[in-house]
Amino acid sequence: MVSTPSTWSPSSWRGRPALHQPEWPDPEHVEEVGKRLATMPPLVFAGEARRLRESLGQVAEGRAFLLQAGDCAESFNDFSAISIREKLKIMLQMAAVLTFGSMLPVVKVGRIAGQFVKPRSSATEVVDGVELPTFRGHMVHDDAPTAEARRFDPERMVQGYNHSASTLNLLRAFTKGGFADLTRVHSWNQEFVATSPEGRRYEVIASEIERALRFMAACGIDLATERSIHEVDVWTSHEGLLLEYEQALTRRDSLTGDWYDCSAHMLWIGERTRRLDGAHVEFFSGVENPIGIKLGPTASAADVVELCEQLDPDRTPGRLTLIARMGALQVGELLPPLIESVRAAEHPVVWVCDPMHGNMFRTPGGTKTRRFEDILAEIQGFFAACLSTDAWPGGVHLEFTGEHVTECLGGSEVVVESDLDHNYSTLCDPRLNARQSLDLAFRVAELMRAAEDAR
Ligand code: PEP
Ligand code: CO
Repeated sequence: MVSTPSTWSPSSWRGRPALHQPEWPDPEHVEEVGKRLATMPPLVFAGEARRLRESLGQVAEGRAFLLQAGDCAESFNDFSAISIREKLKIMLQMAAVLTFGSMLPVVKVGRIAGQFVKPRSSATEVVDGVELPTFRGHMVHDDAPTAEARRFDPERMVQGYNHSASTLNLLRAFTKGGFADLTRVHSWNQEFVATSPEGRRYEVIASEIERALRFMAACGIDLATERSIHEVDVWTSHEGLLLEYEQALTRRDSLTGDWYDCSAHMLWIGERTRRLDGAHVEFFSGVENPIGIKLGPTASAADVVELCEQLDPDRTPGRLTLIARMGALQVGELLPPLIESVRAAEHPVVWVCDPMHGNMFRTPGGTKTRRFEDILAEIQGFFAACLSTDAWPGGVHLEFTGEHVTECLGGSEVVVESDLDHNYSTLCDPRLNARQSLDLAFRVAELMRAAEDAR
């Protein structure tokens, strides 16, 4: 059982098992950094988190779709206006394809501006015969394969905060300052994408959107004053894993008196830290942000219902997003009973498919990868599972990058195994490249249309 509102505090997680936290060499230093972070300005406002929760509430009711996507792990090194812009471009392109295909609003949430900490299956790894702590994200140490680089350093939490602040600042400028203007729909198509089949397919949609805007203008609608044509909301999210950091960024909203984790608009609890008696569930039970929970193949219906009960006793639509990551082969069997049980308990959750984390494997050469076909198959299985249980397939949760990487196999571009080392730059899991992401968006749009026809 989590604390009650009167006993919960931003530090009440400390009495519970906190998995996947770094073994800091100097706990006093961690405490001092936490105090410093607690005096710094919040990265997001409570009011913004509430608006996202309302939008997700629409998804829960089947009136919108969630696109949550970004890096597996953001990097302190790959930190430039260009890389942020390219990620945003592919997000906007995918959202345009999904919106146009389904005629439903698409809620856009990045794995961005804070996705700097990773849970890992094993605590150590062997590199060139030397055993080292596994890489756990730039917010806690460096990725270079040396003992010195892998030493946990709490000062990196301050760096992570600063990186998040600059990323968010640029994101706000891009999304509110003209770059995301719908009249610029053609300009989001990057050169290496534009010449591909999916890039050309995108051009057709972009032209139709332009024609629709001209049609509205011709009908006398004043497009210049219509904010939603010129600005978009792209919300931030990351796995709420490093509790020292999340606690330090947690603030009481002056308007409502409620607690919000102001490190991001939305936080999710990972597959490895969702235990009911754990520190993460305790911590997130007390903040009002929208919360995601990853559900892998071992999630039992009883556990999932209990998680909903602990994290959303008031049954607020949009508070909880359940992100199934079962694997293409298992989703059809494992998801329907979870959906039925959550419905029977009357929790108005958003159901989302993460088709990435249940479909990873290593090539004979040892490279971690995923097949485009498996990713698509899990999404298809997810849609089928939702439709067979009368639930709304609420969205997808993806790992992508705007760059032309070769980390996932297949897609219309057909990345084959021998291509993987051409441009394999992820810090953690393999990501879809811009072409594969756009390709996937077209397939998901088709599934959404079919889902709408079926209801
Ligand atoms: C992730 O989303 O990068 C992740 C680690 O996922 P999961 O908790 O589902 O394994
Ligand atoms: Co990942």
